[in-house]
Amino acid sequence: MKPQFILPAVAALLCGLSSAHAHELPQGAEPLQQSEQCAACHPQIVKEWQESFHAKSSVHKDSAHNAMHQAFSKAMTAQGKKPTYHCAACHAPMADNMKALMSGEAAPDSSNASQTEGVGCSFCHRIEAVTHGKSFDQYTLNKDGAYKTSRPTNPKAAHKTGQSPLFADGQICMGCHSQYVNPHEVPICVMTEEGKGNCVRCHMEKAEGAPAAGSEAKTHISHRFPGGHDADMLRKAAALELKVESTGKERVVSIAVKNTTEHTFPSTNPMRMAFVKVRAKNKSGAVIWENFKADPLKEDKQAVFFKAFKAGDKVGVPSWEAEAMAFDTRLKTGETRTLRYPLYSPEISEVEAELIYLLFPPKAIEGFGIPKDGVNDQRFSVAKKSVQMQ
Ligand code: HEC
Ligand code: HEC
Ligand code: HEC
Ligand code: HEC
Ligand code: HEC
Repeated sequence: MKPQFILPAVAALLCGLSSAHAHELPQGAEPLQQSEQCAACHPQIVKEWQESFHAKSSVHKDSAHNAMHQAFSKAMTAQGKKPTYHCAACHAPMADNMKALMSGEAAPDSSNASQTEGVGCSFCHRIEAVTHGKSFDQYTLNKDGAYKTSRPTNPKAAHKTGQSPLFADGQICMGCHSQYVNPHEVPICVMTEEGKGNCVRCHMEKAEGAPAAGSEAKTHISHRFPGGHDADMLRKAAALELKVESTGKERVVSIAVKNTTEHTFPSTNPMRMAFVKVRAKNKSGAVIWENFKADPLKEDKQAVFFKAFKAGDKVGVPSWEAEAMAFDTRLKTGETRTLRYPLYSPEISEVEAELIYLLFPPKAIEGFGIPKDGVNDQRFSVAKKSVQMQ
């Protein structure tokens, strides 16, 4: 038997299982330009974007996404179905053979630059409308090729620009980031319910340097899009408080974990996991108690922020089988969760708590062959506190 949290990991890849529709570039529209064509005039923004996961989102550049797509394809083949790369709708939105990728007629091809591009400049900046779909949403792009922002048309630009209110608060993000609901109507990733904050304010902060060569502006909006892969961003996600209370003879440590993002922590992706590790030490610094040794989900589930799905009474099924949520212990927007542990040993003189974040649980890495490349297997310390006692 596989441990139960391998399977919910599969859920992430199911954002959009139904062989839905590709994003639309209207008939006769200007072709999509490659991001490197922006580099001569927007060098800094291009460099930031290249470091972001939007530039690495396809199977050709994201080793974790590639491993999960292979696991998905194997599962489909085992069921006698044609493996598809429908993931392309969000992970390779500029692919020039989108429909064939989504139906399984074509396989991903690393020599096709429109696939390796990922979520490129001209895709985002040509978004005209986001249409709400049943299982996931989709985009219509503009015909005239103008690059839009929320600001009025800019005569200083070397190309057509346009104004769209969708850019001001992140509505343009929602065609890919809003939702996936499976055929049983189980919400797999639903950002629209997890938070309604302004995505751009937190994920695209101001950075030094002009937005374009020759521009007089001193700052621009960063395109690094920090998220779960970024230690500094993760430190903004939660706050941790630690207190030891004595009630007569008994000492109890209480640990309050507060979500300081404006969406669930960890957000959307069902593979992300966070947990609190608590250690109590004696005077010489030796650890004499800890809340778990190897597996927090088995040994101290209350300290884990994670979600999993079920079918019938089977917990931990992949999202395409999911009939309901088995549990969702992630921190909701604005939530503070308090964990309490009695400190039985009188020898305890220091307690330490650390909030740890993993992109993928270790067993998912093993189970799906997600490469341990120093990226996917990172272990981030989000917050850490300790108290000394007499
Ligand atoms: C409806 C859009 C959508 C579809 C379709 C989709 N994804 Fe994603 N996927 C996303 C978004 C958005 C993220 C980033 C959000 C996050 O990590 O919380 C993401 C993140 C991921 C990640 C994490 C990547 C990393 O580097 O850590 C994996 C793995 C993944 N998806 C696999 C898949 C696979 C495999 C498929 C197809 C079988 C798929 N996704 C289909 C939107 C989608
Ligand atoms: C020949 C130079 C040049 C190239 C190439 C170029 N741009 Fe620009 N772009 C500019 C200039 C100049 C501005 C105006 C900067 C300012 O006003 O500070 C601009 C502004 C913009 C804006 C902001 C418009 C606004 O003011 O709100 C966007 C978005 C944009 N460009 C996208 C792109 C994209 C995407 C590409 C590549 C497909 C690209 N540009 C290629 C020169 C260029
Ligand atoms: C065309 C689809 C698409 C659009 C539009 C889009 N994203 Fe993404 N985004 C993705 C995918 C796919 C990933 C996951 C890439 C991967 O890791 O493989 C992702 C990843 C991310 C991440 C996680 C980075 C990390 O380190 O894991 C953040 C943050 C993010 N997007 C924010 C935004 C914001 C903010 C917007 C709107 C301004 C936006 N995205 C628009 C598809 C999109
Ligand atoms: C995931 C979507 C997304 C991608 C990909 C993207 N942008 Fe943007 N970009 C935005 C948003 C959102 C804004 C903020 C617009 C606003 O304030 O109205 C923005 C702002 C800009 C601006 C104005 C910056 C300023 O400070 O005035 C320029 C120029 C620009 N982008 C160029 C690019 C270029 C070049 C690329 C590719 C390297 C790119 N963008 C990729 C979403 C995106
Ligand atoms: C108040 C600031 C704030 C706002 C507003 C906000 N985020 Fe985040 N977001 C964060 C922080 C901090 C993290 C890192 C913690 C985490 O991954 O949960 C994060 C993480 C993410 C991730 C990375 C998940 C991963 O698996 O790597 C995605 C995707 C994301 N946010 C998308 C969005 C979208 C889309 C919006 C708009 C609806 C949004 N965020 C609004 C602060 C914010």
